[in-house]
Amino acid sequence: MTTTVRTRVAIIGAGPAGLLLAHLLAHAGIESVVIDQRSREEIQTTIRAGILEQGTVEILDTLGTSRARTVGSRHEGIELRFDGEGHRIDFEALVGRAVWLYPQHEALKDLIAARVTAGQDLRFGVTATRVEDAASALPRVIATDADGEQLVIEAEFVVGADGSRSVARAAVSGSRNGYFREYPFAWFGILCEAPPSADELIYSNSPDGFALISQRSPSVQRMYFQCEPDADPDALTEEELWRELQKRVPGTELQEGPIFQRDVLRFRSFVAHELLHGRVALVGDAAHTVPPTGAKGMNLAVADVLVLERALRALLLENDARLLEAFPETALQRIWKAQHFSWWMTSMLHVAPDASDFDRRRQLGELRSVVESEAGRTYLAEAYTGWPLRGLTG
Ligand code: PHB
Repeated sequence: MTTTVRTRVAIIGAGPAGLLLAHLLAHAGIESVVIDQRSREEIQTTIRAGILEQGTVEILDTLGTSRARTVGSRHEGIELRFDGEGHRIDFEALVGRAVWLYPQHEALKDLIAARVTAGQDLRFGVTATRVEDAASALPRVIATDADGEQLVIEAEFVVGADGSRSVARAAVSGSRNGYFREYPFAWFGILCEAPPSADELIYSNSPDGFALISQRSPSVQRMYFQCEPDADPDALTEEELWRELQKRVPGTELQEGPIFQRDVLRFRSFVAHELLHGRVALVGDAAHTVPPTGAKGMNLAVADVLVLERALRALLLENDARLLEAFPETALQRIWKAQHFSWWMTSMLHVAPDASDFDRRRQLGELRSVVESEAGRTYLAEAYTGWPLRGLTG
């Protein structure tokens, strides 16, 4: 049996990009259907990164249900540590802005609650298999619902917000893929029950490799250390994990506690060759991936969505396609800035497996050039707290 539904915008993916887009469209009076192959439970419990730019927090405020400012915590700076010394990058003093530590799955709970409370269409356990007729005025999503029945969503526009393994991408880029870079290292991430070891995030470059000391709450902490891409998350004992972490943050005594989650995060940089084909567009991880060092992933998805939402309003409410035609170029300018920043933070802070003595000393020179120059610190602060979203909205 096939069920066909009709809507104005079909959105594949109930991650931050898909849900935020649906929310903004609803505000503008544009109806949409959002589908995701995962269950609500899975979406709300998958551990992801947690830094929100100030502009992202301001956009989430429009939900009315965002807890970013109450449950999340405001951070006015980070520390870069290298050569045995810490250097604070004071965002507030340098650019008058801050970031919020608020895990992505908490933001997703807020977005899902807002949509469900408003009685808007959001379907879990629905797997998109393909997008058809991208170039026509009535593209459609072919999907399988939770009971194995076929669901067809006909829409005036289809958005692929379906993550790095996007199904929608095939309808946009065809067999052409994208610009791609892989890194010779990954992050070993842990969640532990312990008090914070520091008030702010510490990004540490050490001869043994990179480590990041992050936080989650007064009693739960998130930390990462550089590892091999194919590391087995279960190969090390808790004692060995603490030893690895501790030797990479000399000068700070880590507060240890039971480790209740461990994972290995691969590092990739990716930008799809095409973001738009006819009436199908890609946003968020479907369009690009960044390594986590610059904390840009979710924030970049939010910026894509702002550009696309404005274009869809012009298209669907005023029959004006000009902003849609400009969408790829407008979004790509920020995407490539974020690609550069994420690559730069990554290459400046990690120790490549084949690094020579020259590379190592040059890297310390680079870190010193950043922290000892107000211009250097300001560039980092601007990029980390987020380039202005002005011009993307309105
Ligand atoms: C995190 O807390 O998970 C986190 C923070 C900053 C990053 C990446 C991950 O750059």
